[in-house]
Amino acid sequence: MLSEQDNRTELLKQIKDEVVAFKDSPLYENRVKNGVFPVIGEGSHFAKIVFVGEAPGRNEAKTGRPFCGAAGKILDELLASIGLPRADVYITNIVKDRPPMNRDPLPEEIDAYGPFLDRQFEIIKPQVIAALGRFSMGYIMQKFGLQAQLGPISQPHGKMFDAVATWGKIKIVALYHPAAAIYDNKKKDILKKDFEILKQFK
Ligand code: URA
Repeated sequence: MLSEQDNRTELLKQIKDEVVAFKDSPLYENRVKNGVFPVIGEGSHFAKIVFVGEAPGRNEAKTGRPFCGAAGKILDELLASIGLPRADVYITNIVKDRPPMNRDPLPEEIDAYGPFLDRQFEIIKPQVIAALGRFSMGYIMQKFGLQAQLGPISQPHGKMFDAVATWGKIKIVALYHPAAAIYDNKKKDILKKDFEILKQFK
């Protein structure tokens, strides 16, 4: 019998294998043409907090790792500001392949990759899902029946919503996307303040 740890690792690897082989994806040809990688996610398979970004950028597609470029530096800073080691959380995106020219993900791309994210949640069973940016916020809040609370991210950011997942009660937190803080110190201050709400789940 597999240990729970090995079981989760195996199930997450299955998702990786399926995404790698996902030829029907609207972004598959682009991946092959550019010789880059999908980004599945990384971190603790027992994370209490799962962070969900939008889609890989250039650095992420080159390396196959989430949030390893400029936005990743900000995310690292935010995690450090609340003393939360990056290795203790799980970091992923809704869309697992890079959209061309870093454009916003299209609804059909979100639809194509959303089920992989849903399965990642089911395996990791987090206590908190932290949505980074409006696309992630939209997908996650709708998935957990919070569409009535949706609005421009300037409204729900930093707030914690109760939701019920198949594995129990969870919290949903909407946050600005770290990329919004690259050239905007005010946004970084807001993000730092909003991250404080995650401290209780360390
Ligand atoms: N932006 C995202 O949304 N995700 C990443 O992994 C990197 C940048």
